[in-house]
Parts: sequence; structure tokens; C-alpha cells
Amino acid sequence: MSTAASSPIILAENLTKVYAAGKIQVTAVHGVSLAVERGEFVAIVGPSGSGKSTLFYLLGGLTRATEGRVVVDGVDFATLDDGQRTRLRKHRIGFVFQKFNLLPTLSAMGNIEIAWAISGNKGPLDLKYLDHLSDLLSIKSRLKHRPSELSGGEQQRVAIARALITRPAIVLADEPTGNLDTKNSDAVLQMLVRSNRELGQTTLMITHNPEAASIANRILYMRDGQIVSEEKPSQPDAAAAAASASLVVPSSVAAAV
Ligand SMILES: Nc1ncnc2c1ncn2[C@@H]1O[C@H](COP(=O)(O)OP(=O)(O)OP(=O)(O)O)[C@@H](O)[C@H]1O
Ligand SMILES: [Mg+2]
Repeated sequence: MSTAASSPIILAENLTKVYAAGKIQVTAVHGVSLAVERGEFVAIVGPSGSGKSTLFYLLGGLTRATEGRVVVDGVDFATLDDGQRTRLRKHRIGFVFQKFNLLPTLSAMGNIEIAWAISGNKGPLDLKYLDHLSDLLSIKSRLKHRPSELSGGEQQRVAIARALITRPAIVLADEPTGNLDTKNSDAVLQMLVRSNRELGQTTLMITHNPEAASIANRILYMRDGQIVSEEKPSQPDAAAAAASASLVVPSSVAAAV
């Protein structure tokens, strides 16, 4: 299933997504091509409505492209049936959704357990790793509660633990710090950076937060459904930068959000 280590882990070619609601058509993503290398940490930045979440859904195989193709780990989504696509997603990708998408009838713990159960990982849930994640995310005391009993920020952190518990090869995170205060936002960013480095994960993070974007190896700027430019922030040590309170924010990032 996997190809040579040097090939991009995510390849998008000429991706277009047109939403059709009755007679009205919205081109949310328009001819996007990109390649993400293994182990890269890429941030996607752009104004509201520029197509970031739609691109996230396309790259994660959650929606079909109107045109173009997505190849993950050498496998073209278009060649897979629904079951195969679902399996690829569950086994290889950890999603953090903009709206969390936690299952309302399960506790926080239940939400994390179910992600583990469907991931294809053999053996019992790694409780030690869960302890580590929930400690860093400050959700330890909230694990028995259902999403409706959690604050927005707590739900977001549970969603992050759910995405990371399986140690996925690819982490797709849509505004993972969108509901968090500075302290929790820093904790989440540190965790994503560490996870990216220590587990060799490939991370794609959508954000409105210039500080968050500045920890990436590469920042892609979206506007009107297209990637209009990209930048490599000069970050000698992204982990240290993430831990620092005074992150350097490239002026172009500040202008774009
Ligand atoms: N299901 C849908 N049906 C019709 N139009 C949609 C649908 N989902 C998104 N759109 C439209 O597509 C465009 C891109 O939406 P998208 O959610 O990808 O933007 P975004 O960059 O993630 O915005 P935000 O920063 O606010 O989350 C918007 O104009 C939006 O209204
Ligand atoms: Mg969005």
C-alpha cells in the first residue's frame, strides 16, 4: 500500500469542489494542487469562506472532489470503494474537526475509546498514552463527562486526544486552537509539534491564529478556493517556539487572518 519513502504522503492534483444547493453553485475549492512530504508540518491559513475546511474534507477523503484527485500514501482515493476509503481514513488519519464531531451519547473517554476501537490497532487502549495526552491537555478530570457537559475548549481538547490516541501517520486538524485560551492553545500546539516530531507524523493544521501557523515548516495561504502563496517560516526550533510565550509571527500571516 505504501510507496517509496521519498514520495509525498499527500498529493492533491487540480482539486476542485463545487457545492450545489438547488440552482446555486459554490466553488469552494478551485484547482488546488499540493504535495505534503512525510513528516512535514503544514499550516493552512486564509480568510473565512476561503475553502480551508473543504480542502480538509477533500484531503481526508471525507468528500469527493468534483475534479482532480487526492493520493494518500500512494493510494488514489478515487480507486477505492466507500469501505476501503473509510478503512484508509480510520487506520491512517487522525481528524480534529472544526466543530469537534464528538458523539453526544458517549463520555469523553467513550469518544476516545471508540476512535481506538475502530482504528485497526491491535490490543487494548494504551492507557499510559491516554494518561499522558489527557494530562497535557488538562482533561483528566473531565473524561467521564459527556460532550454537552463540557465547555467548548474542553470538547476541543477531547477531540484532539481522540485524534492522537491512535498515533496516526497523518493528523488533519481544522482550527485545533479555535476555542482555546492562550495556555491551552500553547499546550495543544506543543503537543502537535511533539507528536509530529517524535512519531514522525505528517501534520496539516488549518488555523486563523498567526502564532499557531508560525510553528509549521510551511504555511499555505488560501483565498477564494485557491492556494495563492506559500512561505517557510524561519523557525530554527519549532518545538521551542511553540513553548515560548513570545512567538514570532510572520507579518504576512498576521495580514492574512
Ligand atoms: N455544504 C455546503 N454547501 C454549500 N456551500 C458550502 C458548503 N460547505 C461550504 N460551503 C461554502 O464553500 C465556501 C468555503 O467554505 P469552507 O467551510 O471550506 O471555508 P473555510 O475557509 O473553512 O471558512 P471558515 O474559516 O469560516 O471555517 C464558503 O463560501 C461556504 O459557504
Ligand atoms: Mg472552516
